[in-house]
Amino acid sequence: MKVDSAGSPQFVKLSFVLIIFFAINLMWHGLQAREDTAKMVVPPNLVINVDHRSTVSLNGKWHVIIDPYENGYYDYRYLPSKNGYFKNAKARNKTELIEYDFDKSEALNVPGDWNSQQDKLFFYEGTIWYKKSFDYQRKPNTRVFVYFGAANYHAIVYLNGQKLGEHVGGFTPFNFEITKLVREPRPSQEGSPSAVSSGRTNRVSSIPTVHFDNEGRGEKDNFLIVKVDNKRLREGIPTVNTDWWNYGGLTRRVELIEVPETFIRDYFIQLKKGSLKTVAGWIQLDGKQSSQTITVEIPEANVKQTFNTNADGYVEFEFDAELQLWSPENPMLYDVLIKSQPDSLSDSIGFRSVETEGTKILLNGKPIFLRGICIHEQAPKSKARAYSKEHAETLLGWAKEMNCNFVRLAHYPHNEYMPRTADRLGVLVWSEIPVYWTILWENESTLKNALSQLTEMITRDKNRASVILWSVANETPVGDARNEFLKTLVERAKSLDPTRLITAAMEKSYEGRNKPVINDPFGQYVDVLGCNEYIGWYEGLPDRCDLYTWGTIYDKPVIISEFGGGALGGFHADKDTRWSEEYQEYLYEKQIKMLEKVPFMAGTSPWILTDFMSPRRPLPRIQDYWNRKGLISDKGKKKKAFYVMQRFYEKHKQNEQ
Ligand code: GCU
Repeated sequence: MKVDSAGSPQFVKLSFVLIIFFAINLMWHGLQAREDTAKMVVPPNLVINVDHRSTVSLNGKWHVIIDPYENGYYDYRYLPSKNGYFKNAKARNKTELIEYDFDKSEALNVPGDWNSQQDKLFFYEGTIWYKKSFDYQRKPNTRVFVYFGAANYHAIVYLNGQKLGEHVGGFTPFNFEITKLVREPRPSQEGSPSAVSSGRTNRVSSIPTVHFDNEGRGEKDNFLIVKVDNKRLREGIPTVNTDWWNYGGLTRRVELIEVPETFIRDYFIQLKKGSLKTVAGWIQLDGKQSSQTITVEIPEANVKQTFNTNADGYVEFEFDAELQLWSPENPMLYDVLIKSQPDSLSDSIGFRSVETEGTKILLNGKPIFLRGICIHEQAPKSKARAYSKEHAETLLGWAKEMNCNFVRLAHYPHNEYMPRTADRLGVLVWSEIPVYWTILWENESTLKNALSQLTEMITRDKNRASVILWSVANETPVGDARNEFLKTLVERAKSLDPTRLITAAMEKSYEGRNKPVINDPFGQYVDVLGCNEYIGWYEGLPDRCDLYTWGTIYDKPVIISEFGGGALGGFHADKDTRWSEEYQEYLYEKQIKMLEKVPFMAGTSPWILTDFMSPRRPLPRIQDYWNRKGLISDKGKKKKAFYVMQRFYEKHKQNEQ
């Protein structure tokens, strides 16, 4: 059939078919690209369970160079320089020009954010270089990793001038193998007191004045240098706007981990989904002796099981066991021993099941009401970011005092002491990645970043019985690109951990003036719906609560994952005066009265346990860069509303008995 002119019916039909073809093609490729990105984020070579391994701490004083212009990284053409500060260069004679000197520079504490350590760094956002020198005596047939609990936000790590790698994301751990790069003590030093050997010794002395040989070796053989940059990025996770302080630095512990040549790098040991007696999981060895026979023992439960790893050092397993189930009332932790050749590793693991049934959350098969509170990683009574076991014990101790059995760790994975302390104290945990407010949903690197933070969070804490919920987002705007982005995160979380519940903190909308409704379309992809609401604070006055009757379009459990209002600790006035403890107290009373009537509510986690630092809160003499919605002030003093929640949860506790 001859086609004569552009207007002819054949031509129109042909171009129409072509357009359809291209459109489908584009969509398919778009989807393909998203899938590829999801596939590309391989689980990290993260070494888990550092607490039970042989380590040497590098915590303490680190020399630093504050480098707002990244002069230590870029040359004047803004190209990465080969002679950056990572070289730790020293003038070796009177003519040589070196314009920095770590060892004559000031020092900061690690772990620790830099903002609260020096006034001049309070608002500082940019690059700071950290340097730590150490000697290290490696035992034969071992490997060494340098491990960071977290560094906010973008870290580039060097050992002895060599780049080890980079990490993006301020709240999850990362490590690099340094076996081939770590320098052994120089012969003359052999046996000298300063050479550290592995085994939880901590003899990395604080800041000596050092002399250098021409290998850049000072008195210590090795120098570890980290460029940490906490600049906020639009394509970042989180993005440029957060209601928490953008603490920078090596905010969590730094350790040298020494392991055998073939070691137990990662494992997952929990109850199988839907079972109260079948333990299911996997173990990943790392090293040459990959296929071997390994055992899993739980002595207190008379369990001793043997399995064979495959050529990749991987084995999946299932076995039945008579176990006391972990719960807030009975936080039973078992010593679990994994033995391989030649590595063995123990961990304290609780076994519990968590599921949903309609609008109920079931713990060990029984409905449970989550008596919760939100917590930021704010060190108690301090302007600093929390990082230690003691911080965790104080914060979770306060939550227990409030009769909580649940905490929402907002809005990012907290340090590992939090879930481990929650395991011991019997506190259920919601853990979240900082996909917060309006990030760039269609940016592939943003998705990759979110996927890797999610993967690292789950990798680190998947053996913690206390952790029952993975949250993939907080207060994100409804939209197709957002839904697709978050769906990819849910799929990843489910593929990494089929045992826990997936959630997100969403926002409500209204059917008519007085009916808040939970109908966010993303709700269909999660197991539990989180809903943040500020009725009586951002939305009207506390009495407004009396007008409302809540609705939901889902037959799923709902956690009111945020509600509350601000109060300056110690400021007292009538209940209508904002910022007074009486206003906050009255608001909580009204909120509780409203929420008690919500039939599909499976828990609450008010905003928030303690006041916390936020650059969005400048109101003088009230906020002064503190978000004052804490039930406990920045001085550690409980506000009146604390006792309102304590009584409400006490009543719940009584009803459960
Ligand atoms: C939001 C948000 C929090 C914030 C809080 C507040 O809902 O999720 O991060 O701090 O409200 O405004 O205090």
